[in-house]
Amino acid sequence: MQFLAKAGAADKLRTACLITAVFENKKLSPGAAALDKASGGAITEALKSGDLKGKAGQTLMLRKPAGLACERLLLVGAGKEEELGDAAYRKLWQGAVNAVKDTAAKEATVLLLELPVKGRDARWKAGQAVEAASQALYLFDETKSEKKPEDRPVLAKLTLVTANAAETRAAEAGIRQGEATAAGVALARTLGNLPGNICTPSYLGEQAKAIGRKYKTVKVNVLDAKAMEKLGMGALLSVAKGSRQPPRLIVMEYKPAGARNKPVVLVGKGLTFDAGGISLKPAADMDQMKFDMCGGASVLGAMQAIAELGLKLNVVAVVPSSENLPDGNANKPGDIVTAMSGQTIEILNTDAEGRLILCDALTYARRFNPEVVIDVATLTGACVVALGKHAAGVLGNDQDLVDGLLAAGQTSGDRAWQLPLWDEYQEQLKSNFADVANVGGRYAGAITGACFLSRFTKDLRWAHLDVAGVAWAEGGDKGATGRPVPLLVQYLVDRAGG
Ligand code: BES
Ligand code: MN
Ligand code: ZN
Repeated sequence: MQFLAKAGAADKLRTACLITAVFENKKLSPGAAALDKASGGAITEALKSGDLKGKAGQTLMLRKPAGLACERLLLVGAGKEEELGDAAYRKLWQGAVNAVKDTAAKEATVLLLELPVKGRDARWKAGQAVEAASQALYLFDETKSEKKPEDRPVLAKLTLVTANAAETRAAEAGIRQGEATAAGVALARTLGNLPGNICTPSYLGEQAKAIGRKYKTVKVNVLDAKAMEKLGMGALLSVAKGSRQPPRLIVMEYKPAGARNKPVVLVGKGLTFDAGGISLKPAADMDQMKFDMCGGASVLGAMQAIAELGLKLNVVAVVPSSENLPDGNANKPGDIVTAMSGQTIEILNTDAEGRLILCDALTYARRFNPEVVIDVATLTGACVVALGKHAAGVLGNDQDLVDGLLAAGQTSGDRAWQLPLWDEYQEQLKSNFADVANVGGRYAGAITGACFLSRFTKDLRWAHLDVAGVAWAEGGDKGATGRPVPLLVQYLVDRAGG
């Protein structure tokens, strides 16, 4: 898919599909007004029919309107003009692309950058447009026996119309970021959607190496169980020993020429299948636990995106990867293991395995002398209960860092919401036999999960993103979402200074 920005007059555009917006109450956008005039009132007439109410994302396709040089004219609802915000803007883009992709149009020209979105410029609008369009065009058929060509959209080029040269340059910057982000999202979605028997820890390691081969700024090192033993990663290894699949610790270092900062370290949970271990999960929906590596996949996607963008910022990724299965050799409730940090952990529930693999990865992160550490994990069902499928949970020991992540979530539309990490909650992790227990009881599960990780990030500036609710969708749209790649990329772009 190709995206272009170009200045042009609405009524002169020659294209297979011209896309313009109308607001509720039959109010026309500037582009729609110009086209209406040039076509002798084709748009006003269509609206009179009542076929398009103008709600955000609604569409109506007109064929060969007289007086215009387009084969199709797609009208997209933009809601109430004064209420056009971030979410409605994304929605109308999705609606538009979904409507064109079902036609034979190979390219389309779009008059949607002109819409006023409060506080947003052409760069932001173009970036969101690219992400929304790519999202709508994503297709996963890797594991279907028959690849149906008719499922592959023929739409190959979108031209975003700008007002002038300065806006074209701004839109081009947005397109660049949007394309890199969208490719990272697509990678994270595909890795998430691949089943546990294909997307194993070794497979994830190979994917990271492939990114390293593509970008000479990215160095990849994949540690095996032996290397982890040498490092004393007793917590991570304890989870892996119940599985036939060997674990991996994926380490990626992005070092562009000229970047002088201490690195941002991203740590992603790469649990390729979580059956719960001896504390076995119920059968219903257990297939969804193939998505338990989505945190790790989002870190890979973000690394690919920033390498593609060439951001001037040192960034390291650490992805601990394992399966969590019941087995004669698996962790048992009550087992006590020693983490790389030297702390002992009483495993009261083998299903709280994410924190066991992450704690050793977080300790490992210290060797990079990080500026900040951000971990991303599908850590707790409790986070889904608290925030649903809309916001990731964010907790941390440094409010500046948390604020930066919250802001990046707002900008990207990939939102997070802060939960408290007060000392009082730490008491729930008390163990009579070890330094810390791996579970904290029924209450505040998302918070006690973060409390556990905080035991391993003392003196680091650290934040934790619990993406259990947002990393994949259920029901008819079941599949990985690629979140929080947009949040991570925006955060790193912000840190690199735009
Ligand atoms: N991967 C799960 C968390 C999860 C569950 C994400 C459901 C999305 C949907 C994690 O490893 C887990 O099992 N967590 C336990 C923790 C509990 C034992 C303290 C949970 O949430 O039930
Ligand atoms: Mn689990
Ligand atoms: Zn898990």
